[in-house]
Amino acid sequence: MNPRQKELVQSSFAKVAPIAEQAADLFYGRLFEIDPALRPMFPENMKEQKIKLMQMLTAAVKGLDNLETLVPVVRQLGARHTGYGVKEEHYGTVAAALLWTLEKGLGEAFTPETKEAWVVVYGILAATMQEGASSAAAAGA
Ligand code: HEM
Repeated sequence: MNPRQKELVQSSFAKVAPIAEQAADLFYGRLFEIDPALRPMFPENMKEQKIKLMQMLTAAVKGLDNLETLVPVVRQLGARHTGYGVKEEHYGTVAAALLWTLEKGLGEAFTPETKEAWVVVYGILAATMQEGASSAAAAGA
């Protein structure tokens, strides 16, 4: 991730913040459309989940300025995801739903360069979560 990519992710996410609720609706709608088998992993009532996801994304995007603090938090998030039944292959499905949501939410502001920046940043988050999951598994957690 270079400074320009960090800036693009932060400035584009700031545009999604005012429509966070709709963005979360779009995201989970798309996620369960791509892979309906994921639906039963989540609670029936998604209200809180939607808030938690947007809060965590907000913290992660802000945290790009301070990776030493962000990384342990994201590793722990990844370790908890093992307990939710999340497997490595699911991260690609979530990436697809996220990029689709950003495209819907941002329209023309979601330029190819902005999309590439999100691909890079999501890749870092997903890899860090997966690392957290594997080291927790290795430690027998
Ligand atoms: C960047 C990627 C992701 C972020 C930021 C994220 C964020 C979150 C957050 C904040 C929670 C609330 C609980 C907690 O903090 O432990 C959560 C729960 C959950 N996430 Fe994720 N997640 C990501 C990727 C995924 C993926 C790839 C899946 C696979 C389908 C997934 C499935 C779930 C499930 C099933 C729950 C638990 C729902 C429940 O039982 O309450 N997440 N996620």
